[in-house]
Amino acid sequence: MDYLQLWNFILWAGGTFRSFTFLELSYLEWIGLLWTLAWIVYCIPYFINTLYCIWIAPVLGHYANLRKMGKWAVVTGASDGIGKAYAEEIARLGVNVVLISRSKSKLDDLARELGEKFGVQTKVVSVDFTEGLHIYDEIQKELEGLEIGTLVNNIGIFYPYVEYFTERPNARKHSQDMIFCNVFPVTFMTHMILPQMCSRGRGVIINIGSYLGTIPCPLNSMYSGTKAFTERFTESLSMEYEKSGVIIQAVIPEYVSTRMSGVTKPSWTTPSAKEYVRKALKTVGVESRTSVYIPHRLAILAHETGIFLWRRFGSRAIFNVFLHLRANSKHRLAVLKQSQRT
Ligand SMILES: NC(=O)c1ccc[n+]([C@@H]2O[C@H](COP(=O)([O-])OP(=O)(O)OC[C@H]3O[C@@H](n4cnc5c(N)ncnc54)[C@H](OP(=O)(O)O)[C@@H]3O)[C@@H](O)[C@H]2O)c1
Repeated sequence: MDYLQLWNFILWAGGTFRSFTFLELSYLEWIGLLWTLAWIVYCIPYFINTLYCIWIAPVLGHYANLRKMGKWAVVTGASDGIGKAYAEEIARLGVNVVLISRSKSKLDDLARELGEKFGVQTKVVSVDFTEGLHIYDEIQKELEGLEIGTLVNNIGIFYPYVEYFTERPNARKHSQDMIFCNVFPVTFMTHMILPQMCSRGRGVIINIGSYLGTIPCPLNSMYSGTKAFTERFTESLSMEYEKSGVIIQAVIPEYVSTRMSGVTKPSWTTPSAKEYVRKALKTVGVESRTSVYIPHRLAILAHETGIFLWRRFGSRAIFNVFLHLRANSKHRLAVLKQSQRT
């Protein structure tokens, strides 16, 4: 059917429907009505699936039991925010946890707290992921002999402030740090731990992406690019290993109240890390790619179903917000002043 035939069909369908229902609509209104109906039909499977994932699966306990996966869990970026919440919620289930992050004192405090509260064993590995690839040998040594059933690849860094790609201070080092923290850990930690999970025929790997990786994100291009890597890498692996018994999941949050987001007060759009992670753990084994929280799911739905041509419109809106943030960033102004002085 070519476009002219399709157009004639729409006019005919519109005319027939109008004669049945006495609806007095212009052709533009007809197009709007048909487009909306088509969109609703297209979204029905999504809504049914979401209903199952949010309400039915948690109530029926269809999600994975991390205790059955192995005695230990490994969480990167465990000293703060979403990683800390994963470490706490996994320890609450009675699974021992290896905590990996930069600040040893924060990790030691958390390890003590988890041991006292939940009676689990803990291990602290203090590394800086920006230091290079040798740290993976250190991590591997620390993990030797542990039966690791769950891996949470959570470590990730953002921009100190939003900026044009070529105007970031120390841009080459910044690009390297973004790749060292947002791309290498998810790749190398998975490569390190997946074989032992496959040999046991069970395990869970959770990789934390970001909503900003699902659409083009001007003034945050490195972050958006690295998070797109995480998501695509995870989805591909999840299919590649679907028969191995290992569950591989991409978690794609929008804003969560943490140090990174700078949102100090949780709200209905921005949950606390604890609330987010509690819900996220109930999607493991249910969804291989999830944004967990209802408002975050709606944002993804909007751009994936093309509502209001969201992908382009959404990126443009983000660009405008970031341009505003850039112009008003005190951090950026301080860096610019400093560089003028030197
Ligand atoms: N918060 C959000 O709104 C949001 C939205 C979408 C996606 N995400 C993703 O969620 C993940 C966690 O974010 P978050 O908000 O929880 O971040 P956060 O509160 O800033 O915590 C980051 C964690 O990573 C560790 N870390 C940072 N740089 C490190 C380095 N060079 N070497 C080792 N550890 C390092 C930090 O350890 P130290 O405390 O020792 O520095 C901390 O434990 C990230 O992958 C992020 O991209 C977050």
